[in-house]
Amino acid sequence: MLEGERIRLRAVEREDLVQLWQHNNDLSVELAGGGDPPMPQAYERLVAEWEEQIRSGGRDGTSFAIEADGVMIGQCALFNEDRTARTYELGITIGDATYWGRGYGQECLRLLLTYAFRHLNVHKVWLRVHASNARAVGSYSACGFVEEGRLRAHVWCDGKYDDLLVMGVLREEWTG
Ligand SMILES: CC(C)(COP(=O)(O)OP(=O)(O)OC[C@H]1O[C@@H](n2cnc3c(N)ncnc32)[C@H](O)[C@@H]1OP(=O)(O)O)[C@@H](O)C(=O)NCCC(=O)NCCS
Repeated sequence: MLEGERIRLRAVEREDLVQLWQHNNDLSVELAGGGDPPMPQAYERLVAEWEEQIRSGGRDGTSFAIEADGVMIGQCALFNEDRTARTYELGITIGDATYWGRGYGQECLRLLLTYAFRHLNVHKVWLRVHASNARAVGSYSACGFVEEGRLRAHVWCDGKYDDLLVMGVLREEWTG
């Protein structure tokens, strides 16, 4: 649906579930993502969750599969919409580590920001990231996100505490 030079953002399809399952069970991806503590996920459970969402109907909202070289390499999404303030939180995971550090994240972020500001008429996009996740912070900074706050020793990840950064980009700061 959204085309970049090397990537495409589109809906997650049934054929992507195997890749997604592999990403969800990869400890290095889970720790880098830094969300909830890593936990295993059975393929059947992932399929059941996906089928339940399909059964409930509607659209796929603002969640996208990231496709590169014809393969789903990760996911990104705008979520936690505040309809009054017109803000969205952003999340991104490139689950195939061979694509890390090669600018794919920035390409994806720029597509998502364009989508947010141009198509959804959003005022601000923000995100949370572990302070020690230098690659993620670098990718976000390169796309215009600035640090807005730091919660000290706020998250427990991989055997230690880490600061949690809040970063954001306002519509008027967005350069397109
Ligand atoms: C976070 C993520 C989306 C970033 O995408 P990416 O394609 O790997 O990163 P990019 O190549 O676009 O940008 C990385 C930037 O950080 C910089 N950087 C800083 N420290 C770095 C480090 N230790 N390793 C690699 N890059 C680093 C790079 O120089 C680059 O900036 P530049 O282009 O201005 O030189 C991707 O790595 C990912 O999904 N990782 C796993 C899950 C995750 O961490 N999700 C984020 C949770 S908040």
